[in-house]
Amino acid sequence: MDEAMKALWGFDDFIQGIRDDGFYHDVLTTTKPVGPTIVYEDRELVNFASINILDQHEEPDIKEHFYAAAEQYGLVTGGSRVTQGVGQAHKDLENMLACVTGKERAISFASGLLANIGFINAMTSKFNFSVDCGINNSDAIFILDRDCHWSLWKAASHLPFGRQLFAFRHNDAKDLEKKLKKLSVKHEKIIVVFESVYSADGSIAPMKEILDLCEHYHALSYVDNANGFMIYGPEQRLFADDFAEIHRATFEMVSFSKAVGMEGGAIAGPENMVHSFEVLSGTSLFTAAIQPPTASTIYYIMKKLMEHPEIMDRYLLRSQALRKRLEDKGFRLNDVPSYIISVLIGQDDTAVRVYEEFLRQHMVVPMFRYPAVKPGHALIRIMLNAHHTEAQVNRLVEVLEDLQERYGF
Ligand SMILES: Cc1ncc(COP(=O)(O)O)c(C=O)c1O
Repeated sequence: MDEAMKALWGFDDFIQGIRDDGFYHDVLTTTKPVGPTIVYEDRELVNFASINILDQHEEPDIKEHFYAAAEQYGLVTGGSRVTQGVGQAHKDLENMLACVTGKERAISFASGLLANIGFINAMTSKFNFSVDCGINNSDAIFILDRDCHWSLWKAASHLPFGRQLFAFRHNDAKDLEKKLKKLSVKHEKIIVVFESVYSADGSIAPMKEILDLCEHYHALSYVDNANGFMIYGPEQRLFADDFAEIHRATFEMVSFSKAVGMEGGAIAGPENMVHSFEVLSGTSLFTAAIQPPTASTIYYIMKKLMEHPEIMDRYLLRSQALRKRLEDKGFRLNDVPSYIISVLIGQDDTAVRVYEEFLRQHMVVPMFRYPAVKPGHALIRIMLNAHHTEAQVNRLVEVLEDLQERYGF
């Protein structure tokens, strides 16, 4: 391509700019399984970035199950479910998810992101199959928590903001009520979209209040439970009261890349709505599904985590202990004590230096800065992995203390 054309499109300047700014580092190439450590070519670093918190994929029973499922079901789906049917592994997983979430039906997608995008596509569909058969929900109104995941905002971006698409202040049920009160006078089809656990600040939605409001104002509700699925819920765990309410949401979306630690996503909800997502989401009909051995292993891991709650309990206890240790040392952490531990650094340039210093100390700790967080609120997010050793955790704390002294955050 000639230089004038490159300049016209602006990508060369863009890449140079984000490199110079420290916002972006050329993505490194990993050469071994990603878990408590990560190997970039021949350099091994301790990894506090992985959302695969339990590291189940490295357990012998999981590998064995995966290999057997690959033999039984093969490696590919080879096309969408509408054209050639749905695999037994997918069906088992979806039936189990419907059961776990207390919903009539569930549908899986190749990723959680595709589930979210597909949901909003489906719920705003205008589609005529024949003269007598069609659907028109192009008048649906969406109210999203302002901090909802990119996939939800992106999928809704075709809706005119302020007319069909609205935001309520993060986790603010009072603000949601104001919107619902006003909108429900004129509109019948309203959907409130929110997350259970927000991944940047680790905050938990006031689920009871939000769902009470949805019921009161006859709105449907969609909870993206990507970061809470299989983690919170049981009575003895934190946030039990909030999670006790989650089944009241009309739809529950989950990701299998976090606690379950494979890849894929799903939505559970009312029978015919979820059934129609096969066609109307677009992200089922026009793309591949979860690979069969992965679908089967997701099912196996979900079952394992339900039969052995001590696996997650142990993880959460360790994560709480790390949080307490950091609090006692005076670090400013996200105030909701979820398993997502964010350490406030402050200015973006300090956060870049802290991130780079961690790399020099052979550790990966992701950094969030504006526009992912408010200006002046750059943070690093620590994800403990079930297979981190105590020595690795101690080293993390030591390095943080050293950096705190040097950079004063
Ligand atoms: C709240 C939320 N929703 C959806 C997703 C997307 O999930 P997946 O990684 O399965 O595509 C994520 C992952 O970052 C998330 O945090």
